[in-house]
Parts: sequence; structure tokens; C-alpha cells
Amino acid sequence: MRIVLGGNCGSSSRIGYDVAKRLNLPFYRVEKRKFRDTEMLVRLPVEKIAPSGKSKKELEGMDVIYVQSTAPRQSEHLLELFLTVENIKSRQARSLTLVVPYLAHARQDKEFSPGETISNKVIGKILKDLGVDKLITVDVHFHREVGNYCFEGIDSYNATATEALAKYVREKIGVDSPKIIIPDFGHKPIVEFITPILGDDVEFGKKVRTGETNVNIAFPEGRLKGRPAVIFDDMISGGITAIKTAQNLKQRGAGKIILAVTHTLYINGARHKLLDAEIDRIVATDTIRKEDSVVKIAPVIADAIIESGF
Ligand code: R5P
Repeated sequence: MRIVLGGNCGSSSRIGYDVAKRLNLPFYRVEKRKFRDTEMLVRLPVEKIAPSGKSKKELEGMDVIYVQSTAPRQSEHLLELFLTVENIKSRQARSLTLVVPYLAHARQDKEFSPGETISNKVIGKILKDLGVDKLITVDVHFHREVGNYCFEGIDSYNATATEALAKYVREKIGVDSPKIIIPDFGHKPIVEFITPILGDDVEFGKKVRTGETNVNIAFPEGRLKGRPAVIFDDMISGGITAIKTAQNLKQRGAGKIILAVTHTLYINGARHKLLDAEIDRIVATDTIRKEDSVVKIAPVIADAIIESGF
């Protein structure tokens, strides 16, 4: 028997419910309670999942898909995830496929200056140690390729929202054959998901980050003569990458500017800054639920579960 569990970070349960519906599986929400000292208690609704299950073995023989994003407050949502994973595995589930629509700490994937912890490695090790069998990520920062990969020894699959974002831009906003700008050349693998929908006029920036709030990006030259432009990126944090890209597009004479992005953290009023920078429209998913979350990630995840063979 296969079941879907949803956690308590943002739209995790909504995403889990929609995934369950698409795959025709039962859905249950993980219960979470916070104590006055801010510590938390996590509980699986075992009486609903397995009314006649043996104590401590309620998930025996079950294949569990657990959906939990780790948006701000990242540490709290990660802890909820760890506690829940341990709970699922200790109740004898046959397998656990963890779906993390937004995976926190994915950007700290190397030692940028001496002495730093490589955070994403630590998260992977914890997940592996807790017994996660399969992992599904979405446009995860440390692995740009789409498809199966190995994360700290866990069989993983990275899905992309870029195809769904491109479809929204074309079908709902009516933008056709725009200039497509990807500020970071490292995101090249997403191109094949965008060009069949929006055309193949793609430019890359060469981005060098010199600090949390500083980036230098070198863009190609060439006048845009009022053409619409669509910026694609995996995430918006403080917005500096997209703002610099939009400013360059305006200087080159772009018309309407659309920002298509998978994860919106929107730190320090980033959304207002983006709109002030003459970005006309932001199209984002609900991996982190915000004002611009118009593209649902559940269908992408349901497809990834089928595609990955998990
Ligand atoms: C970085 O390489 C990512 O792809 C994003 O471009 C970046 O994390 C966005 O951060 P910010 O919005 O602060 O520029």
C-alpha cells in the first residue's frame, strides 16, 4: 500500500494532497504542535492510517511519500522534517520517498571561504542516516541537471518547474517568442524545457557573486527594440540577480519584462524592489507560497514520481 503524508511548511500539505489525488493515493497530514518554549512535537495520525495496525508497526509494509518544503523558517521546518522521517521509518514503513519542494541550505554547496561548513552535505548525511530511501527535489540549487542523481548516497531525482513556468508565460500572459535571459550560465540544463514553448532565442549572463548582496553579471550586448523578455532563475532571495538583469534589459530597450522563477524567498522586501526595477510580472510556483505563486508544483512532482520510477 502506498500513502502520501504532508508536512506543515507553507503549502506542503496542499501539494501532498494534490499529488495524492493525481496518483490516486490516500493522503494524511502530519500533526505538529509547538510548546511554549518553541520546541515541537510531531505526530502521525496512525489511528487513521492503520486503524488496526500494531503499535510501533503501523506503517509496516507501506510505501510512504512524504512532502515537506523547508522554506523560512528553514531550521524549524527542517527539524519537523527530520522528526517526521524518523517517525515514519521507525514504524516499519517499507520505503520512504521524501519530496522536498524547496530544499533549504542548498546554496551552501561548497566552502566559499576557508573554515565554512558545507551545509547541504550535512543535510544530505542526516537524511541518509535517518533512512530516506528516495529523494525528490525541484530545481535544487546544487544540482542543475534534471533527472536522477545521487545525493549523499540517496537515490534522488531533480524535477524542474521551468516547463510549467514557460507554459504559464505563453498561455496565460500571452508572451510568444520573447528574448529569454538566464543570468547564470550554470542553469544551462533548463534550456531544453523552455525553448519548445517560448522559442530558442536564449542569452546567458556570466554571474560572479562577491557577497550575499553583491553580484556582478556580464550580459551580451544587442538592442532589444521593445521585444518582451523573460528572465528565468531558480530562486529569488534578495532579488539582486533579477534586478541587475532587468536593468540591463531596460537599458538595451526591452519591452515587457517577465520574471519566471521556481522558489520565491523574497528577503528584505525583494518583491517590491523587483517591481520597482520595472519587472512587469513575476510568475512563480508554490514551493514557497507567496503572492506570485500562480504555478502549482504538485503536477510537476506527481510526474517526477512516475518518471523517476520511485
Ligand atoms: C544563485 O546562483 C541563484 O541561482 C539565484 O540567482 C540567487 O540565489 C538569487 O539570489 P538573489 O535574489 O539574492 O540575487
